[in-house]
Amino acid sequence: MGLSLRTWVASILLLTHLVHGALGWGVDGHYAVCKIAQSYFEEKTLVAVKKILPVYANGELAAVCSWPDEIKRRPEWSCTYALHFVNTPDNECNYEYSRGTHNDKCVTGAIFNYTSQLMFQFHYNLTEALMFVSHFMGDIHQPLHEGFVGDQGGNKIKLNWYEQETNLHRVWDNKIIESAQEKYYNSSLSVMIHSLQHKLKYAWSNDVPSWESCPPHKSACPNPYASESIDLACKYAYKNAAPGTTLGDDYFLSRLPIVEKRIAQGGIRLAATLNRIFSPKPSIAAA
Ligand SMILES: *[C@@H]1O[C@H](CO)[C@@H](O)[C@H](O)[C@H]1NC(C)=O
Ligand SMILES: *[C@@H]1O[C@H](CO)[C@@H](O)[C@H](O)[C@H]1NC(C)=O
Ligand SMILES: *[C@@H]1O[C@H](CO)[C@@H](O)[C@H](O)[C@H]1NC(C)=O
Ligand SMILES: [Zn+2]
Repeated sequence: MGLSLRTWVASILLLTHLVHGALGWGVDGHYAVCKIAQSYFEEKTLVAVKKILPVYANGELAAVCSWPDEIKRRPEWSCTYALHFVNTPDNECNYEYSRGTHNDKCVTGAIFNYTSQLMFQFHYNLTEALMFVSHFMGDIHQPLHEGFVGDQGGNKIKLNWYEQETNLHRVWDNKIIESAQEKYYNSSLSVMIHSLQHKLKYAWSNDVPSWESCPPHKSACPNPYASESIDLACKYAYKNAAPGTTLGDDYFLSRLPIVEKRIAQGGIRLAATLNRIFSPKPSIAAA
């Protein structure tokens, strides 16, 4: 038989990805965040991550970054459903940790939780912790994952994307990314990822250090990412996107740069977080 069990498992997994294509930042958004992150891993981080990844990932973090979306509707994982977002009270355009979360059950709380599991390794399933951190670092950068409670982060705002009926949340998870691939990236996710990596190296290189920064002795800094997201949701996502609207070129061309930057920031910050955990620098105080 030509197919090894491993290849077969990997194909089933890929199929599951395709079928569940419409959840989370879409599969493509999460894949891009993790693919970019891996290219910024320090050596020890890469070794540690490869050790923790399930075999079927073949050493590629990006291969498992949508796993938390695949399981979140299963009864045994129902407690993870609320970890993909944080609710903001309607029309408030700012973020407060204590307001949007009950018992840390929100995307920021989950990032704190699973990074600390990766740090203090003993009794947790590190494979799960790594897949959760990597996924939630993507979600927290999708502005509508910090959206208003009343419209469920744009899910209840039904509108059209060009000729297609959809909702605003899905526009930000998938549609902008898909249209960008068709229009600018030869219908190819990897061409799009290369373009983002190029922008990181040139257009955004001066911003990257500030994106990475986190106070000394902290491994994760998700609160500012959530603040940025609700700010972007108010200024760009909800703006000119009332129910029943048809969104077209004006909306697409002005929002695409936001989406691209958020994916790149997610990748940089995931790498920085995992580097702090697995390739710690000697503290300045000790020097
Ligand atoms: C933290 O992780 C544990 C399992 O490892 C899970 O039971 C708990 O719900 C998580 N809490 C949050 C806020 O993510
Ligand atoms: C860790 O979690 C993964 C994904 O849920 C699972 O496949 C694996 O069996 C778990 N490992 C252990 C030691 O429980
Ligand atoms: C665009 O994609 C097609 C088919 O996937 C490929 O044959 C072609 O070489 C690509 N063009 C560029 C400029 O990358
Ligand atoms: Zn998600």
